[in-house]
Amino acid sequence: MRGLVAVCLTTTVSTSTDPAREQGLAIVRTVADLRRTVAAFRKAGQTIGLVPTMGALHEGHVSLVKGALDRGDVPVTSIFVNPTQFGPNEDFAAYPRDEQGDFDKLQAAGCRIVFAPTKDEMYPGEQLTSVIVKGVTEGLCGPLRPGHFEGVATVVSKLLLMAMPDRAFFGEKDYQQLQVIKRMVRDLSMPFEIVGMPTVREADGLAMSSRNRYMNAAERKTATGLYRALNEVAQAVRGGAACAATTAAASQALLAGGFDKVEYLTVVDAESLAPLERVAPAPARVVAAVRLGRTRLIDNIAA
Ligand code: PAF
Repeated sequence: MRGLVAVCLTTTVSTSTDPAREQGLAIVRTVADLRRTVAAFRKAGQTIGLVPTMGALHEGHVSLVKGALDRGDVPVTSIFVNPTQFGPNEDFAAYPRDEQGDFDKLQAAGCRIVFAPTKDEMYPGEQLTSVIVKGVTEGLCGPLRPGHFEGVATVVSKLLLMAMPDRAFFGEKDYQQLQVIKRMVRDLSMPFEIVGMPTVREADGLAMSSRNRYMNAAERKTATGLYRALNEVAQAVRGGAACAATTAAASQALLAGGFDKVEYLTVVDAESLAPLERVAPAPARVVAAVRLGRTRLIDNIAA
C-alpha cells in the first residue's frame, strides 16, 4: 500500500504518493480509495473513462481501455463478478476468474486504475434500492434471464456513481445491455457519456467473450456458424426479405449445423429493440442467443 492514497501500484520504486504522477496501474479495493485516486487524476486536469467488466479479460475488454485512451481519458477498469445479474441456475460460481492475469493485461493496455472490490464493498449491508429499466428489457434476453438487467442496471449505476467518470465504455457484443444502460443514463439524467465500442472477433468471426472458454474443440468449431448466420440474415433483410421468414430459416440452419437451441434470432430496431418485419428506414440490428453444450452465446450485427 502507498501512503497518501492507500493504493497499490504495480510500478516499482517511486517517491511519489500521487497516483497521477506514477506510471503504473493503481489497484484499489475500496470506494474511498477509488474516489481518492480518481480525484488525484482530476486534480491533474485529466478526464476519466470507466470500463466496467467482470474480469476474465480478453481483447474485447482491451479495446474498451484503448477507446478510453484514444479519447484522452485516464482509463479506470472495474472488475467485479456481479452476483445480482446471475439467475439461480446460471454460471456465477463457474464464471472464470483470473485477477492477476487481468491486472497484467490492464497494465499492458495502459489502464491506470483498476477497481476490484469485494462483494461487501459493492453491496454493504441490506440493499433496498435497485434500478429497473422497462421497454428495452422486455424482449430478447429479458424474459429468458429474469432479474438480469435489473442486476446490470443497478451495479452499473453504482459503478458510475463510485467512479464519476466523464465517459463509460461498453462492448456492442452485449447489445441489449448497451441499450439498457444508454436508456438508464438518459432517463435518470446521469451526467455520463455512454460509448458503445465495436465487437472484437476471433479470426473466424466468433465474438470474443469470457464464456467462450467453456466450449470444447468441436463446439468451438460449430460456434463460428453463428456469425455466418447473422451476416446471411443481415444481407437478406437489407435486400428486402421479410425478417420473420428469414430468421426462421436461419434458425433451422443453425440447429442443423450443430447448435443445441436457438433462444432467439430476430431483427429489431437498433434503439428500441422492437421486432421488425422489414428493415428500413430506421437502423436495425440482427440479434441472437443460442446454446451450444453448456455455453450460451449471444451476438449481433447491424442489418
Ligand atoms: O458486461 C459485463 O461484463 C457486465 O454486465 C457489467 C457491465 C460489467 C456489469 O456487471
